[in-house]
Amino acid sequence: MERKEQLYTGKAKSVFITESKDHLVLFFRDDTSAFDGEKIEQLDRKGMVNNRFNAFIMERLEAAGIKTHYERLLSDTESLVKRLDMIPVECVVRNIATGSICKRLGVEDGLDLQPPTFEFFLKDDERHDPMINDFHIRTFKWATDEEVEQMKVLTFEVNQVLSGLFREAGMILVDFKLEFGRFNGSLLLGDEFTPDGCRVWDVETREKLDKDRFRRGMGQVVESYELIASKLGIDMAGPVTG
Ligand code: TMP
Ligand code: ASP
Repeated sequence: MERKEQLYTGKAKSVFITESKDHLVLFFRDDTSAFDGEKIEQLDRKGMVNNRFNAFIMERLEAAGIKTHYERLLSDTESLVKRLDMIPVECVVRNIATGSICKRLGVEDGLDLQPPTFEFFLKDDERHDPMINDFHIRTFKWATDEEVEQMKVLTFEVNQVLSGLFREAGMILVDFKLEFGRFNGSLLLGDEFTPDGCRVWDVETREKLDKDRFRRGMGQVVESYELIASKLGIDMAGPVTG
């Protein structure tokens, strides 16, 4: 399926309509953003690496019975997805405390979170994605109570599946962000899963392998994404079929 005009441009991806009203093309760009778009740079190969990375993760999630918007790879930098009615809320699960939770709650960086914790944020860069709770979602009608419950259950299911995958490959899935949307009456995962939207540490050295390298100016950003991919056994040069 070919992309037609652009529907929307995000910080790292552009979204195009297609001849099918139920499908969109995601184009993964090399742009890399942090701090709600305050810091943006182009990183060579990142679009391709993230597109392939995302495809691998979405296929694993589907195989584990988690329904996602993902259909298939279209090219090195493009994927076909279902067109969802998006819920403007970000779901974060944390297995280890780092990032905003440490600033907000004063908890120690690197603390093991047992059980893993969950947070909702409003998707609103201008307001720096404020933390919200179930009551805000209900009052402002961003989602129904049933959808709120489903988002929590699905995000923890994704955590279960992917934490195991990363652990087996010698890495810790520290935290991640997901978004959901509606398609023909059911709730589907409607987000990419790449090192841009999660934190991953080496299990032995606890070295940061994800976008924190970019946020903190540590360098070797795409190289590190490629290292995560190779540890997971992702083939960056496999054929684009379908
Ligand atoms: P945080 O520590 O900044 O709240 O981020 C938690 C995790 O969620 C981290 O893996 C980054 C990811 N995340 C995004 O990718 N985009 C966002 O807008 C937010 C709020 C978090
Ligand atoms: N994804 C958000 C941004 O680009 C937040 C972040 O990752 O720091 O600006």
